[in-house]
Amino acid sequence: MTAALIDGNALSRQLREEVTHRAAALRARGHTPGLAVILVGDNPASQVYVRNKVKACHDTGMHSVLEQYPATMTEAELLSRVEALNHDDSIHGILVQLPLPDHIDAQKVIEAISPEKDVDGFHIASAGALMTGMPGFWPCTPYGCMKMLESINYDLRGKHAVVIGRSNIVGKPMALMLLQKNATVTICHSATRDLKAQTLQADVIVAAVGKRNVLTADMVKPGAVVIDVGMNRNDEGKLCGDVDFAGVKEVAGWITPVPGGVGPMTITMLMVNTLESAERRAA
Ligand code: GUN
Repeated sequence: MTAALIDGNALSRQLREEVTHRAAALRARGHTPGLAVILVGDNPASQVYVRNKVKACHDTGMHSVLEQYPATMTEAELLSRVEALNHDDSIHGILVQLPLPDHIDAQKVIEAISPEKDVDGFHIASAGALMTGMPGFWPCTPYGCMKMLESINYDLRGKHAVVIGRSNIVGKPMALMLLQKNATVTICHSATRDLKAQTLQADVIVAAVGKRNVLTADMVKPGAVVIDVGMNRNDEGKLCGDVDFAGVKEVAGWITPVPGGVGPMTITMLMVNTLESAERRAA
């Protein structure tokens, strides 16, 4: 059996088209959605990410501001920039690119962002809203994974979902989103005793560890949906996920590729969150 692919590029294009139309409708009413992206330091991967975020804004008809600061910026200076953007009516989303230099307390900076503009969904108010089912921004990567499940009309009710990884950015919010859709959810992590025993029970597996070959074919129930959040490099330097794609695709029912799976969805959901922030403000 060969799994069907869930194409993140195609789904992203479709969602971004929708965002583009809704952004145009807002602009026609005099409200241009705006995202501010702050980058501190010169981490090369972060530079690529922020450039892609700014480009996605441009492509969908949203306003964006990229603020780049040297790694010597103080925490107080950064907090003061966030505070200014909180009060800037042309800005509906504020994103501080992580990681930040060691001398800056990232959590303190995230908590300084107004929850109404927390389009990354990292503020504790956003986390609390997700936990309790209240309105708030969902972190973009797990939100994108939910959209991928929705795109194949997958009914999570009563299904067993296994999330591998417990980060605040992916694993934990992913588990809460799956739970909200009435899945039975198991979170596995580095201290899990028998990962294979867990994943073999799963109808849906989300791998979000950041390590190659965390999930291999012998660990997957035939027909399961496999979502690969990983972004790693193999020995040849090629991008690969957490899942042994070649093996698992022979067992799974659905699978997301890397690249071209979850990756493009993350920025798309950032556009969705920014647009929705602007729509709420304009309402
Ligand atoms: N660094 C890597 N991914 C992300 C993300 O989704 N948001 C922010 N702010 N920083 C990141």
